[in-house]
Amino acid sequence: MCGIISYCGNRQAIPILIDGLKRLEYRGYDSAGLSTVDKNKMVTIKTVGKVSQLENKTAGTRINSSFGIAHTRWATHGKPSETNAHPQTDCHNKISIVHNGIIENYLELKEELQNKGHQFKSQTDTEVIAHLIEDNYENDLEVAIIKSVERLVGTFGIAVIHTDYKHQIFIVKRGSPIIIGIGDNEFFAASDSNALAPYTHKMVYLSDDEIAVLNSNRFYIKNMKNEILEKKIEILDEDEYKMDKKGYEHYMLKEIFEQPESIKNAFRGRIILNEGVSKLGGLEPVLGRLKNIKKLIIVSCGTSYHAGLLGRYIFETLTELDIEIELASEFRYRRLKLNEDVAVLAISQSGETADTLAAIKEAKRKGALLLGIVNAVGTSIAQITDAGVYNHAGPEIGVASTKIYTSQLVIITLIALFIGRYQTVSFIEGSELLTALKKLPDQIKDILKNAKQIEKIALRYAHFKNFLYIGRLYNYPTAMEGALKLKEISYAHAEGYPAGEMKHGPISLIDENFPTIAIVPKDSTYDKMINNIQEIRARSGRILSITNDGEDKIKNISDDLILVPQTLSILQPILNIIPLQLFAYYIAKEKGCDVDKPRNLAKSVTVE
Ligand code: AGP
Ligand code: GLU
Repeated sequence: MCGIISYCGNRQAIPILIDGLKRLEYRGYDSAGLSTVDKNKMVTIKTVGKVSQLENKTAGTRINSSFGIAHTRWATHGKPSETNAHPQTDCHNKISIVHNGIIENYLELKEELQNKGHQFKSQTDTEVIAHLIEDNYENDLEVAIIKSVERLVGTFGIAVIHTDYKHQIFIVKRGSPIIIGIGDNEFFAASDSNALAPYTHKMVYLSDDEIAVLNSNRFYIKNMKNEILEKKIEILDEDEYKMDKKGYEHYMLKEIFEQPESIKNAFRGRIILNEGVSKLGGLEPVLGRLKNIKKLIIVSCGTSYHAGLLGRYIFETLTELDIEIELASEFRYRRLKLNEDVAVLAISQSGETADTLAAIKEAKRKGALLLGIVNAVGTSIAQITDAGVYNHAGPEIGVASTKIYTSQLVIITLIALFIGRYQTVSFIEGSELLTALKKLPDQIKDILKNAKQIEKIALRYAHFKNFLYIGRLYNYPTAMEGALKLKEISYAHAEGYPAGEMKHGPISLIDENFPTIAIVPKDSTYDKMINNIQEIRARSGRILSITNDGEDKIKNISDDLILVPQTLSILQPILNIIPLQLFAYYIAKEKGCDVDKPRNLAKSVTVE
């Protein structure tokens, strides 16, 4: 969702800004723009639509400038339009700013500034920041920015330039991520390290209420009390941001096919087979506290929520803990008793999801131990949690999460085993689980070998408008996640349901035009699932079964069948979701949808 890139150095700024914006495109946006200062004048170029359109607009301009700010906007206040696109400027076109996030008190500030004579051009909340800085400006921009930021309520990552401050960019943030990239006599600021991949691997993560000032030959970071801060420089791994499709038609397909590798990366170095236990360095610092917790609450959104939903069953199976799972966006409304006996586990691919961040801030206030499973290294959720485990799955570019879901499930299993082995899980149980876990990458390869057959089946379903996905126990979350994949990218309506609930409502929808995807592993849920399928057939519903049983009993009652290899019940969902990801992908592709960037969605949802 929305992206910022800023450059200050000796090279021409525009190509670097455009390239950076292209690298942020995967996050989802509706308009784009940039500002720079050329011959003492603020030059701002904006467009609705793609960054390539912005690039075309800049092509004939001959701007000569080696610093600037740029933005991809995901509209929250005011519809997508050229006027509402960022950068936003002050009354005299001297100050230009880009902003990620939401200013909650913008109406009140706008009214105050309008009463003082400020003229507003856009409907955005962002524009108030430009006018506020103008209003607070006497002779020092840094002071004016700090004064202005003190008035802002909400979340923001902001980059500011001023015509009187050549070669300087001012960055400030609260709640939205900003990273400073350090090059040779050049500096960058971005909302996401992917934007900086070709330029530098040296990064500094800005924390809330810090201001960074970039020049072409130096930068510094201060807190709001005007004190210079010594910040740690992180060196990002090449793998943390490799971004190319490697010959695949879409990032999503590439990421589905990367799962044997991303799963290996999730458990690499984290398994001690001869002790039947997992080794999680990231949790060691809080081991003492972790051993004493009584309750675990998992908070997350979307696909990460589905991983948490399955996490509830995994923790219940492997530990003695009381487990709750809560949507991060609902967590803050509850009157939960959180204390030192409680750990809150946040699961987030991006590490920046605003709802999840808000939920753990709430949990922190109440004294819970904060744990995280995060893919994007160094991001806000990773920073705020007391301890955690990284996915190390490399960037996930497709908006629909695939490889991170399965990676999250592996890590949840490792964490549950880590805790469970201090409780009742035996060495034998632990080793069996880990042995099965190590086989998953090869089993996934076997499923992927059948992609063509899955595609053929998917094409038979592409014309349907509605789908029901059903599963029980460990595969109820699989049903939820399978349905989410399909609706996100193909815009077909799909509902995931625990199969037992079917008779309490959704069965009324079933007819020959409303197919059901049934997840039917050969485990304790098998017979009940067969009954559910019979009930659907009795109402002329079409059935696609995902199963590891090739016998007649299920073949005879399913219209289509996708076979997956068998593993332990607790791990089976990691295999079962793979054909459902492919099923959604091939339907979306057949319908001509923008698979990697589905309409209205963003990769990283940084507003609540
Ligand atoms: C997944 O396919 C979705 N695009 C979305 O539901 C996502 O999982 C959710 O927004 C949470 O994101 P996070 O894991 O980065 O916190
Ligand atoms: N709230 C701002 C707007 O609507 C910023 C949105 C964004 O983060 O892209 O303009």
